[in-house]
Amino acid sequence: MNPNLSLLHPYPFEKLAKLKSGAEVPANLSAISLGIGEPKHPAPEFVKQVIAGNLDKLANYPTTKGLDELREAIADWATRRFDLQPGTLTPAEHIVPVNGTREGIFSLVQSVVERTPSAKVVSPNPFYQIYEGAAILAGATPHYLPCDDSNGFIPDFDQVPESVWDDCQILFLCSPGNPSGAVVSRETLTRVIELADRHDFIVASDECYSELYPDESNPPEGLLQTCAAIGRNDYARCVVFHSLSKRSNLPGLRSGFVAGDADILRDYLRYRTYHGSAMPIQHQLASIAAWRDEDHVRENRAAYRAKFEAVVPILREVMEVDYPDAGFYLWPQTPFSDETFALELSERQNVNVLPGRYLSRTVDGYNPGENRVRMALVAPLEECVEAAQRIVNYLKNR
Ligand SMILES: Cc1ncc(COP(=O)(O)O)c(C=O)c1O
Repeated sequence: MNPNLSLLHPYPFEKLAKLKSGAEVPANLSAISLGIGEPKHPAPEFVKQVIAGNLDKLANYPTTKGLDELREAIADWATRRFDLQPGTLTPAEHIVPVNGTREGIFSLVQSVVERTPSAKVVSPNPFYQIYEGAAILAGATPHYLPCDDSNGFIPDFDQVPESVWDDCQILFLCSPGNPSGAVVSRETLTRVIELADRHDFIVASDECYSELYPDESNPPEGLLQTCAAIGRNDYARCVVFHSLSKRSNLPGLRSGFVAGDADILRDYLRYRTYHGSAMPIQHQLASIAAWRDEDHVRENRAAYRAKFEAVVPILREVMEVDYPDAGFYLWPQTPFSDETFALELSERQNVNVLPGRYLSRTVDGYNPGENRVRMALVAPLEECVEAAQRIVNYLKNR
């Protein structure tokens, strides 16, 4: 067996299941989950219809590179959304469709890491666990940058030793962040690009929550947008990950893309030919329809906005809670241990949240996720409000 498999950490939900094993929940209260970050708004009807109308495509093998029309729809969308110089993000060279960003993140790391003994993949801490697992299975060592309220949940890149940057092969960014929702500014992205040039590493920006933002006039900055703003129109050393899962409530479609540096993507495409993860044609056609429509995305944002506006004031009765810059999570501090909070809340109120420490690693004795919980506002509005009221009851009666 691959010995690195034994280095993988249990997934956060496995840890949660273990925490709760043997615990009883109140029979008179229905379960409400704020634990798993799975979108629950309905999938758009027009997307379902495209799939239903193209079932005959099941008779064909899809290509790894995908349909030209899909990459064109993605190039149009990204160019418009991120103010790119028209014609610089080409469907032919700068875009690779993937079966969701999880798969894309994992496989990109496998294709770019050079297995040297000192190879490092640097990521925020807390982080999306695939960054770490992909690094370990590619033979690299994960290096974690703490994110907490002292740095606004964005790594302090200037605190990272030069030796770490020298060994760094990929730096992951997650903006808007999971779990904090924090958005990395253009200024910081520019600084990160300078570091990548100086130390020759790839900046991989996971932007799968980029379309869930509260202010219609202020969408989050993206890495390619910063490239365009500083005249880096070849996107050198930069790749971004985008997904229809959150933007369009299509987590089951498994559809996203990687875009950016053409040299990286050429080798990545070659890797994927062997990896064997081509997107089914009917899913590509459905994805084209989804990327070409913004109305359903605006409605989606409005639904999340309504939930944040309803839930945050209720929770503020009993705990400090900030509105996130973007995304669908709350990341409040707990008045005592995050594990105790999650366990008791389940036992007393049948509401599930994820202990923050399960999303992060302890480095030098410090775990930046400790004494926070992640609450995903994915359930319908009434359920989110009910969950918030039960949290108030729990803390008031404890
Ligand atoms: C930060 C982050 N990146 C990537 C993903 C993967 O999303 P998908 O594979 O559905 O595109 C998730 C899913 O929860 C996530 O939270």
